[in-house]
Amino acid sequence: MTPRATLDLPQMAGAADAMQPVPVADRVHWVGALDPDLRNFDIILRTANGTSYNAYVVRGSTGVAVIDTVKQEFTEPFLKRLEAVARYDELTTLVLNHLEPDHTGAVPELLRRAPHLEICVSPRGVQVLRALLKDRFDDYAVRIVRTGDTVSLGDQTLRFLTTPYVHWPDTQCTHLQDQRLLFTCDLFGCHFCDARLFNDRVGDFRFSFEYYFEHIMRPFKAYVVAALDLIEPLDIAMIAPSHGPILRAHPRQYITHYRRLVKSRLASEVGDQKTLLIFYVSAYGATSMMAGAIYEGAAENPDVRASLFDLQIGEFTPFVDLIEEADALVFGSPTINGDAVKTVWDLLAGLVDIDTKGKLGAAFGSYGWTGEAVQMVEGRLQGLKMRVPEKGLKIKLHPTDAELEDCRDFGRRLAAHLTGRMQPREVDFADL
Ligand SMILES: Cc1cc2nc3c(=O)[nH]c(=O)nc-3n(C[C@H](O)[C@H](O)[C@H](O)COP(=O)(O)O)c2cc1C
Ligand SMILES: [Fe+2]
Ligand SMILES: [Fe+2]
Repeated sequence: MTPRATLDLPQMAGAADAMQPVPVADRVHWVGALDPDLRNFDIILRTANGTSYNAYVVRGSTGVAVIDTVKQEFTEPFLKRLEAVARYDELTTLVLNHLEPDHTGAVPELLRRAPHLEICVSPRGVQVLRALLKDRFDDYAVRIVRTGDTVSLGDQTLRFLTTPYVHWPDTQCTHLQDQRLLFTCDLFGCHFCDARLFNDRVGDFRFSFEYYFEHIMRPFKAYVVAALDLIEPLDIAMIAPSHGPILRAHPRQYITHYRRLVKSRLASEVGDQKTLLIFYVSAYGATSMMAGAIYEGAAENPDVRASLFDLQIGEFTPFVDLIEEADALVFGSPTINGDAVKTVWDLLAGLVDIDTKGKLGAAFGSYGWTGEAVQMVEGRLQGLKMRVPEKGLKIKLHPTDAELEDCRDFGRRLAAHLTGRMQPREVDFADL
């Protein structure tokens, strides 16, 4: 067995900074940076063993390209590695596949040293680049590249693929055709720090790979599918993302794995029915009675599968998959101290990892005197870009029999919106 001391593991103090450029393929070098001490990324992600910012240098017979850079605080080790494989006056091209600061932190300093570089960005990337470079933007040669465009480095050719929203509007991939190497930036990336760099050499990063997808790519599943459709037909021997291991062993497996991850988590068994989920909390049972009646009304529609869930159980994770698949989401909360109940807010906050755009949304709740909860929840649903065709239903204290019938009607109307038997009426902001 190889002694641990010879592995140059990033956990060893100084090992990360001392790393030399690593050959990735013929005339391609890794010149990125390791960040083994990072424990939290973009606030939302935990990074139990840090991350890496992978940047690459591609040397052709007439040009040298830099593919992505690193987070600003790693500018120095990045440039040192870059200098070890190319002179600044040899560099011709800077490809920015994504302009989030973890990949563009070293751009200003690189451009200061190599101002002649032609910067290749996607159509949306140019807007972010302008914001990044501010009044210096006009000092540089910027080229907007789209799917199929190429940049020749002589005997090496870079071909671009515009793959927006994986996970920013600016994201693109770059295919080095001659080496069958695909640079994907965040796509197929993960936060996993291991100086051995290659997927066939590093530790077990399966959890990190899925966790990264879950929190970064999942809200953009439709765009991931579009990106996979572009990528799949390519000749690929290696996927080189900008975080975590370089996928040189069985790269197709990761594409297949992404195909699995973008699919539904739940076995399909509903057939053609539309699904409507009602979530509620209730302190004295009034909102609960409303929820039950709305449920009854919606369930009368044979084309709608209605379900009722009491959020008092306080555990939301299982609901997120369900919500992602649902057609309609209905939230009930009493007004407590001028607000909706925290449990409902917690569930709504948990929806950041999924795409709720275009789903039908509605709110209801019992109240005593002011009743703000319903409008507040409606506002949040609109903020999530859901369509809210019915004005939220508010009932003072416990509902009467007549009011329960109003609730049933509310449920019937929501169901009818789902099955297309009612014209949607968007709630006017003035109503909120
Ligand atoms: C601690 C507390 C605070 C409340 N604050 C408000 C309030 O700010 N505005 C309001 O309209 N009703 C308020 N209410 C009244 C409740 O909204 C009302 O009792 C409602 O019917 C409770 O519905 P539930 O049985 O579904 O819990 C409050 C009730 C409690 C117990
Ligand atoms: Fe990113
Ligand atoms: Fe990133």
